Amino acid sequence: MFALSVIAAASALLRVASATDVMAHFMVQNAYAYDVDQWKTDIASAQQVGIDGFALNWIPPDCQAGLDWTVDAIDDAFTAAESMGFKLMHSFDMSYSTCDIYWNQTFMQDIISKYAGNSAAYRWNSNMLVSTYGGDQVEQYGNEFFQGLKDNMKDSNPITLAPGLTTYSMGAQDNPTTEAASLITDYPSIDGYLNWQAWPLNVLANLTVTPDQAFQSALKSAGRSGPYIMAVSPWQYKDLNDGNPLDTWVAYSDTLFPDRFKSLVSNDAIQPDIIELLTWNDFCESHYIRDLPSQDVTATDYVELGDMGAYVWGQNHAPWRIVAKYYISWWKNGSPPAITMDQVVFWHRIHPKATECSGGSSTAVRNAAMPDDAVFAWALVSETSTISITVGSNQYWTFEADSTGPTMGMVPFPAYVSSDGVTPQVAIVRDGVNVHIGSSTQAISTSCDYQNFNPVVSLVGDGMNTGS
Ligand SMILES: *[C@@H]1O[C@H](CO)[C@@H](O)[C@H](O)[C@H]1NC(C)=O
Ligand SMILES: *[C@@H]1O[C@H](CO)[C@@H](O)[C@H](O)[C@H]1NC(C)=O
Repeated sequence: MFALSVIAAASALLRVASATDVMAHFMVQNAYAYDVDQWKTDIASAQQVGIDGFALNWIPPDCQAGLDWTVDAIDDAFTAAESMGFKLMHSFDMSYSTCDIYWNQTFMQDIISKYAGNSAAYRWNSNMLVSTYGGDQVEQYGNEFFQGLKDNMKDSNPITLAPGLTTYSMGAQDNPTTEAASLITDYPSIDGYLNWQAWPLNVLANLTVTPDQAFQSALKSAGRSGPYIMAVSPWQYKDLNDGNPLDTWVAYSDTLFPDRFKSLVSNDAIQPDIIELLTWNDFCESHYIRDLPSQDVTATDYVELGDMGAYVWGQNHAPWRIVAKYYISWWKNGSPPAITMDQVVFWHRIHPKATECSGGSSTAVRNAAMPDDAVFAWALVSETSTISITVGSNQYWTFEADSTGPTMGMVPFPAYVSSDGVTPQVAIVRDGVNVHIGSSTQAISTSCDYQNFNPVVSLVGDGMNTGS
């Protein structure tokens, strides 16, 4: 704990020099049990990765009985963030319409203004930055709503608005230029934009930065003064298990995380103003990078996941923060960080995709054929090494890695996987010696109670909270 806070403090100081910020999307609904200290723990963990702030996603507190605590949780978050040199911005969830209660301008204005004097309030130039998830698909919102909010705040606490309007982001996957142009025409009120679509949209293809370029250049040519926020996410899988195939899907995410980061750092094609990681703690969409929450009801990071816990508990994603940390450092500094440790981060789903489990939406997962049945490994080593991976009968598959940068490898699941399963094993080998060797925290098997396309992420090598 002591070492961790020293690192956090050091990175807070260094931040002053960086011209670019990294936010992580934070689901306030999963902070039910948080106290100020728990917020500080999460913030320290985020700062260790190079994350500068959280974008707080929440729904109107009157939406469900007993949701009032969210207002208090946000208060605690600002108290913790202020003491740690961390930033917070509101990301109002405007996609929510099931409760028939909507955000209103007065309440939004009050809650934004409440933190105008708090040093943790994230600002774009001198304005407070305000973002959303949605606002274009629910008729109570839209351009006039946004314009009204901005006008109301103009004289007291002027805001810069960079919403994430999902129809435009989805449309831009196929028609980037026309969707970006429509966004500008339809939304004269907005200053910047969060392009939410961080996953391939129902296609077996890798994401490109073309939509990002289109939105950024459309904002620029229209003279909008807000930031272009590029979203980066490791995965997407959700199963609401409600019988509606629209509510159960996986996106082709096998190598998405390192690929998206690579497109950001390794050429000049895109230079967003802000990166937003999707997400810190959205467990039910399988794109969290936070540690798994506690299942102990008395813990300050207890989270009730209900049925969805069936594909979350046990599926640790924490080692993905090593991947994020490496590329964030590269992006902020303009050059790749020196590699001082030997680390292989590897991930895999825990059932072959053809497996039909007894629970969950077993035969109705949209895009279920897209993921490869394989173990994916991302190696970051300080000296030339051979990375050796065994997955059941696929024994000792190797690839070479060296200190010039990360190397990806992959090993398919064996043709036959039993119900007992096989546990992938990874070794970092130098001069014929295993420098590090370890196993995944989960086996791959054909025995399952619940459909699961959420991967487990493991680490072999040096620990995540030491060094550089
Ligand atoms: C505005 O929203 C807040 C929070 O949901 C709610 O308490 C309040 O009653 C709403 N005001 C109006 C006029 O609807
Ligand atoms: C996506 O990119 C990876 C390289 O990172 C490549 O191995 C894979 O084949 C690509 N997928 C598709 C569907 O083109």
